[in-house]
Amino acid sequence: MKRDISKIIEQMTLEEKASLCSGSDFWHTQAIERLGIPAVMLSDGPHGLRKQEGEGDHLGLNESIQAVCFPAACALACSFDTELAGEVGKTLGEECQAEDLSVLLGPAVNIKRSPLCGRNFEYFSEDPLLAGKMAAAYIRGVQSWDVGTSVKHFAANNQEYRRMTCSSEVDERTLREIYFPAFEIAVKEAQPKTIMCSYNKINGTYSADNEWLLNKVLREEWGFEGYVVTDWGAVSDRVRGIRAGLDLEMPSSGGVNDARIISAVKNGTLDEALLDQTVERILNVVFSYADHRHPEAVFDRDADHEKAVDAASECAVLLQNNGALPLKENIRVAYIGGFAASPRFQGGGSSHINASKITSALESAKEKGRGVTYAEGFPADRDELDEEKLKEALAAAENADAAVIFAGLPEILEGESYDRKNMKLPAAQNRLITEVAAVQPNTVVVLHNGSPVECPWAPSVSAVLEMYLGGQGVGEACDRILWGEVNPSGKLAETFPLRLEDNPSYLNFPGDGKTVHYAEGVYVGYRYYETKRQPVRWVFGHGLSYTDFSFSSLRLSTEEMNDEDKCLVTVDVTNTGSCFGKEIVQLYISDRTGTFGRPVRELKGFTKVALQPGETKTVAMTITARDLSYYHTELKDWYAASGTYAVQIGRASDDICLQKDLTFRTSKILPMTVDGTTTLGDLMANPKTASVLGQILSQAFGTSAENGNAGMESNDATAQATMMAMPLKSLASFAAMGEEQYQGMIAAFRAALQ
Ligand code: BGC
Repeated sequence: MKRDISKIIEQMTLEEKASLCSGSDFWHTQAIERLGIPAVMLSDGPHGLRKQEGEGDHLGLNESIQAVCFPAACALACSFDTELAGEVGKTLGEECQAEDLSVLLGPAVNIKRSPLCGRNFEYFSEDPLLAGKMAAAYIRGVQSWDVGTSVKHFAANNQEYRRMTCSSEVDERTLREIYFPAFEIAVKEAQPKTIMCSYNKINGTYSADNEWLLNKVLREEWGFEGYVVTDWGAVSDRVRGIRAGLDLEMPSSGGVNDARIISAVKNGTLDEALLDQTVERILNVVFSYADHRHPEAVFDRDADHEKAVDAASECAVLLQNNGALPLKENIRVAYIGGFAASPRFQGGGSSHINASKITSALESAKEKGRGVTYAEGFPADRDELDEEKLKEALAAAENADAAVIFAGLPEILEGESYDRKNMKLPAAQNRLITEVAAVQPNTVVVLHNGSPVECPWAPSVSAVLEMYLGGQGVGEACDRILWGEVNPSGKLAETFPLRLEDNPSYLNFPGDGKTVHYAEGVYVGYRYYETKRQPVRWVFGHGLSYTDFSFSSLRLSTEEMNDEDKCLVTVDVTNTGSCFGKEIVQLYISDRTGTFGRPVRELKGFTKVALQPGETKTVAMTITARDLSYYHTELKDWYAASGTYAVQIGRASDDICLQKDLTFRTSKILPMTVDGTTTLGDLMANPKTASVLGQILSQAFGTSAENGNAGMESNDATAQATMMAMPLKSLASFAAMGEEQYQGMIAAFRAALQ
């Protein structure tokens, strides 16, 4: 059924229109009964439903209904599996229909700039392509049930410290290349019904008032069609917000902002047509849900719990293994650490789910009759080490054939509204791991955390398995992997630096409370570590398997391409080991044109492939000119210089197994302005100015200007380099030009560029 929304708007009074622009309470939109406009409910997300039937809050404090907690984005991203993200989305979409929720507030796609951001567990990656592709798949899944999503937090919300007022100071190129693309991909590939703007300012302007961000970039450039909702309480200037493209204020403004909107229309400072547009966008989304209810939808918590276990099994990353894993069925294993009995499976704050069921690794092992003993060693919720418990843990480890230590971050160290103070595990855990490893050669560490931790003990343990915050099924998923029922297939969606100080944002995070300068620019995550050759603990894209894979026969459909072309990249992947497994093929592009300021390589494609032992499959990915490009702020467009680019296939960001050169030719011409700082080299690089330069030099110095060498015939490379570096203002002084002659020269170059 197609409703005529404009007809409804025509019948609305100014007061009714204004009322629709903010919530009726903490979670609902406003109803206007006389026009048949229903109130619909929005709910957190993203990795489960936090539907609050009683008192609402945005901090995860009050009750919400029992729901199923899926792996948080930090874990889901490591699957590199867009199909899985889509399946999780579909399950959540059906749950929303069954619970009458019109919009699920997620996915959260902000980039992990620093390992310290308190909400990193809710975000996908340090890489925008991975974050964007996973988000788009999730959105398509949820929205396939006619339920909306809200991609958040737009934009540059990469820390919790003073998140509600701080200004993220980011240059445009960095925004376009690092902090925007996850949103851009989500909009272009999945058209989310809503976008949630962030609390913070961007370069001095609140996102909620930012016309460039909302109207220009989001709507005009990317084609976003839905409504923009504030983060809860993020409104700055309500009327300016409407002009900027902000639609729905949440939660309710208690009528205060309705009155402001009404008086702005009455006094002529707000065009009513803009208000109509806002109302139309809100109503479109309200009715796209209200008119498409699915009575067949059910929220089957038991069935969805099983899906959560399966999903978590796909997300685990085996970081290190000298053969201790998988554990052999007939050995005696000591499970140590509070997380074995009560795993940390989700983060704190607005995404907190009232989990319907939680499985621990210990319970799962017992249920399956495995030969496991348990010693608590340290508690899961604080940094504390009781000497007696340590002794028990050491004895248990010594008396077993292997020890598995379940370590991680207590919830108090990591959550919404605050950042971590350091990148360390609790000292008690570090000490216990070191002491256990000294008495038990087969020591395995399992990690439950939402963001990287320093692992100084890594060289002395046999294996490390990263489970992240894997949702309520994390314990059973962990059991499957430890004991070889499932072969781990995740890869890191972020780098684990050796120390916090190695992170590129270190000197500028989190800023002085008023501003935070993103001084590292585009060098975020592996873009920095790889370019700088900075040693790290585990690289972006790293993850081991119980089998082995080989890559061969890299082929490009073309070795030369221009702005409009596409290049199909294919590569064969073979499972050379002895068990079923999945490999993630990563495609990176490396600019070899000599252009300044480009990371050594950037991820431009990935595919997960499942292979039986001995099986080979061909994987195909496509490259476009955009994949070779950087954002040129003067051109105001994406630009790749003509020249050579390496197409690289890797198993991790530092492990490139195959590569081929691609020659690119662009017809885009970079804007050029000529003034006293323009060098002879700049002028030589542009054919239009090169010939004028030749004439000027021959007049000034009496040298010839034949064959485009602009009179610089010297064979002496040093002299040539010196000439090329010379700016026009210096040339004028060497050639003793008068003011008139100098201005004439500048004018001649400018004329040549017309
Ligand atoms: C969070 C959002 C959340 C909202 C509603 C805010 O504090 O930043 O992510 O959706 O609260 O709970």
